[in-house]
This record gives sequence, C-alpha cells and structure tokens, in this order.
Amino acid sequence: MHRRFIVAGNWKMHGSRDTVMRLVKGITDGAAVSSDIDIVLFPTYVHLAQVHALLQGTAIVCGAQNLYPGTQGAFTGEVSGPMLVDAGCCYALIGHSERRAILHEGLELVAAKFQAAQQAGLIPLLCVGETQAEREHKQTEQVIAQQLASVMEKVGAEAWSQAVIAYEPIWAIGTGLTATPEQAQHVHAFIRAYIAKQHVAIAGGIRILYGGSVKPDNAAQLFAMPDIDGGLIGGASLDAKSFLAICAAANKSAVMA
Ligand code: PGA
Repeated sequence: MHRRFIVAGNWKMHGSRDTVMRLVKGITDGAAVSSDIDIVLFPTYVHLAQVHALLQGTAIVCGAQNLYPGTQGAFTGEVSGPMLVDAGCCYALIGHSERRAILHEGLELVAAKFQAAQQAGLIPLLCVGETQAEREHKQTEQVIAQQLASVMEKVGAEAWSQAVIAYEPIWAIGTGLTATPEQAQHVHAFIRAYIAKQHVAIAGGIRILYGGSVKPDNAAQLFAMPDIDGGLIGGASLDAKSFLAICAAANKSAVMA
C-alpha cells in the first residue's frame, strides 16, 4: 500500500518571534521541491498563531506539542483541542517521551489526550518508545505494546485510521545516537503487525515515523526501510537547511516507492 511520507519538526521549547519568523521563511522558501510528502511544524503554543499565519498559501501545516483532554473550564495553564483547531492546528503530538518522563504523563492520560485530539478534529501523532534499560532487558516490544494497548482500549482499533505513530527510542532522542535502520525497521514492523492483529487494512495504511537524532546524513537510509514512513525531527528541525535536506531525502524515497 502507498503511504504518503510525513516529515514533522518538533521545535520543543525553542524560539522567539524573530527566530520563528526566519525559520518558517527558510523552510517555506525551500519546501516546494518536496511536494510529494506532508510537512508538519510543531512550534510552542505561543508561536502557533504566528506560524499558522506565515504558512498561509503553502502546503505545510502546523500542530501543537500537547493538549489538555477537556474542551474548556477551570484548568489553569492548559489549552484544549478545540482551541488548537481554532488557532489553525491540524495535528497534536501525544505522549512524547519528554512529557511522559518530565511531566509524569501516564498511559491513561496519554490515551485521554489521544481521544481528545481526535474528538476536536486533530490528527494525533502518538509517540512510543523504550528506554535504554528496557532495550537492554529485551523489553522493547512489551513496552511499546503496552503504550499502544492503552490507547487502543480507550478509542478502539478503528481510531488508528485517523492517527500517525512515531517510534522514538528514548536513548536516541537528542543524544546523537540513532537506531540503525535495521533496528528501527524491526520495531516499525512490530508496530504495524500489532495493529494488524486488530485491523489489517488500517495497519497497512497507517504512517509510522521514526524519531531520534534524525539528521541529513542518516535520513535517507532510515527512509529506505519498508515500514518507515517519514520522521519526527527535533534538533535538526531548528535549522531550515537541515530540515529541508531531511524533507528532500523523504521526498526522494516517496518518489521511488
Ligand atoms: P531529536 O528529537 O531529533 O533531537 O533527537 C526527536 C524528538 O524528540 O522528537
């Protein structure tokens, strides 16, 4: 089955109005050549409206790095799915490992956020992945199965048809260590097979991105793997030239597929 590649930039807690403006301009100026893939940018909440405005008239869309699972109410400091849609978002990152670890987001909260994103009309980009210790103890598949199962129990298998998954081994995020293409492919195939047990057709169509120190010099090998459908890019997405080079690598794989 043909799956359209996605390259997503997770800007994390970076940027000012000025650097954001220059970064978006740099990306939009060079992105036209990567027209066979979807490109998504995830700025901070405070830069969303600015980024959305700068992306008008381009094929690039934006998403939020988080949301609160409610529509409105007394939740000081939180932002809801409908607010993000109103601000121009199409996607929401759900369950990024930094939020699971630093903000103590558990499986239940992550599943509730996934559901809230879909209810608001956002496409959840669900992040899953294991720690170094879990990999060493051969628990990678078990950990990822649990992360997928908690979402599936909440929303049902059909919900995967409107979602994207990112496999991000925690030991590879921001460390410069990348999973080898074979290591990543193994886990991507596991994720697809896991979803196929519930729904074969949806498993064939769902986009599974790899994240964790993707750079211009390793992107092409990762994107050549049969079950890798693009990338979730952190550090390298803050530099227009690097991000565009990764987009170009994905576009090349998309055209050859
Ligand atoms: P990295 O981050 O590319 O800087 O490793 C990836 C991510 O956390 O999504």
